[in-house]
Amino acid sequence: MVPTRIYLTGFMGSGKSTLGPLLAERLHYRFADLDDEIEKAAGRSIREVFQEEGEAAFRVLERAALEQVATRDEVVVAVGGGALTFEHNLHVALASGAVFYLRVSAEELVRRLGDQAALRPLLQDEKGHVLSKKAMSAKITAMLRQRGPFYERAHAIIDLDGLTVEEACDALEAAVASATGGRSGGDRG
Ligand code: S3P
Repeated sequence: MVPTRIYLTGFMGSGKSTLGPLLAERLHYRFADLDDEIEKAAGRSIREVFQEEGEAAFRVLERAALEQVATRDEVVVAVGGGALTFEHNLHVALASGAVFYLRVSAEELVRRLGDQAALRPLLQDEKGHVLSKKAMSAKITAMLRQRGPFYERAHAIIDLDGLTVEEACDALEAAVASATGGRSGGDRG
């Protein structure tokens, strides 16, 4: 039985926004990207929210957006890489659905994120300049070490290093099929 809410968590660049819509299509669920929901609610881009109000303000919007999607049914939700690293948010997700950690190694993340730093406020310095390769690598490694224990509390972990998108989607779909998370949160049993 497929849980009615499926949350995909993992670091920036782990493939949540790529795999989420594909999984949703296979399950005939809707797809929601939490970052898009935040942008809609804020009327601004994530980048602008970070620049104008800072990360703390972004986290407030993120929490509200998560609480909102947690009321929807038959939905696959890609959550931002930081969203489920807060105890309250992790609890909301674990209690209302099944949570899947898309795990990618730090080395692979550094490779993937190298070209995308301009779009990602957390890979920039306080002035908005993209970090050097070395600084980025150190930051990703440190953040992953700090966030890993939260990510690993997911209902299931899918290791994605070396998998094609198709293979990753198959692995995720198989994990979802055997998931038992979020039964109390509205699964139709
Ligand atoms: C963040 C990840 C981003 C976005 C924001 C903060 C994080 O989402 O929510 O820039 O704290 O890791 P993605 O993981 O979808 O890139």
